Amino acid sequence: MESLELIATGGAVPKHPVHNNDLAKIMDTSDEWIFSRTGIHSRYFCEGDETVTALAAEAARQAMERAGITSDEVGCLVAATCSGDYATPAESCLVQRALGLPDDIPVTDVNAACSGFIYAAEVARGFLQESEKPYALVVGAEQISRFLDMTDRSTAVLFGDGAGAAVFRRTPASLYHHVLGAAGGLEINVPGAASGKPEKVSMDGKAVFRFATRAMRRSIESLMEQSGKTFDDVDWVICHQANSRIIDHVVRRMNAPAEKFFEDMDRFGNTSGASVPLALNDMNEQHLLSPGQTLLLIGFGSGLTWGGLMLKCAPDFRAE
Ligand code: UT7
Repeated sequence: MESLELIATGGAVPKHPVHNNDLAKIMDTSDEWIFSRTGIHSRYFCEGDETVTALAAEAARQAMERAGITSDEVGCLVAATCSGDYATPAESCLVQRALGLPDDIPVTDVNAACSGFIYAAEVARGFLQESEKPYALVVGAEQISRFLDMTDRSTAVLFGDGAGAAVFRRTPASLYHHVLGAAGGLEINVPGAASGKPEKVSMDGKAVFRFATRAMRRSIESLMEQSGKTFDDVDWVICHQANSRIIDHVVRRMNAPAEKFFEDMDRFGNTSGASVPLALNDMNEQHLLSPGQTLLLIGFGSGLTWGGLMLKCAPDFRAE
């Protein structure tokens, strides 16, 4: 199968940030507790007419504009989400409609929660093998705030809303490796409407913490082994932005270069399937990405899903 290389990124968040101090007004918590346990100071929550579709379409449109591609060049659209606006149609179809993409390409969603963008890129790579068009549009978009139980301070303080998008191009030659897995677990879940239980996030935080650190190490080790590369060959590791302590733990255990692990959960919180592409876009807007760089993208989350990609920014990557 041919590889993917990264061409451009996009991102969008709701207008109003929600600081830890805002949460401390409605529940028994504090900026000190949240920041010291998670690295999060602030996140965004959708309000009014802010929807997953609006955020996803804005991020996707930005990525396409930056890539300089037309709708006719997009060979597939895959969205990673577990909080789409409709149960059906898929969020990706709503984005397709908002962007006016043609009707002769595969368009679908992937629900792999916080690993969603990694899975979605792999699904898109599969679609592109059969396509005459060279580009894939992959979006991660969430409104997890809809599912937060504001009486459960141990989960409500973690999550935020947002969207990130990437344009990838199919290429025969570029460095590309992937690893995907899932453990079939309920440790983070949102019951469906038919269960009769509240549709709210519940989580065994300690179990997820242990899973996350193992999953991250396993993904990184697998990608290094497949590629024969080391951290010296990698420019950036972009992990799911759940918790800075999870990243610190992995960095220590792997004796890895901490400065290569990007973090922005302080401003966005955990945006689930949006977190990896939103982080990519944040890095791009901070001028941290450039053509030819080697990236590791690492996800873990509900499912319990996990996985990673090793890929390159294209020689003509649209750096901001
Ligand atoms: O996409 C994957 C998403 N999931 C994750 O990233 C979760 C991974 N897990 C974690 O990050 C951590 O387990 C948490 C941050 C969720 C919790 O940290 P912890 O160190 O495991 O805390 P804990 O649950 O053991 O709670 C310690 C204390 C408890 O009080 P007592 O029983 O010791 O008096 C909690 O009630 O902290 C209390 N607590 C809080 N206090 C202030 C729990 N949440 C809060 C809060 N503010 N928001």
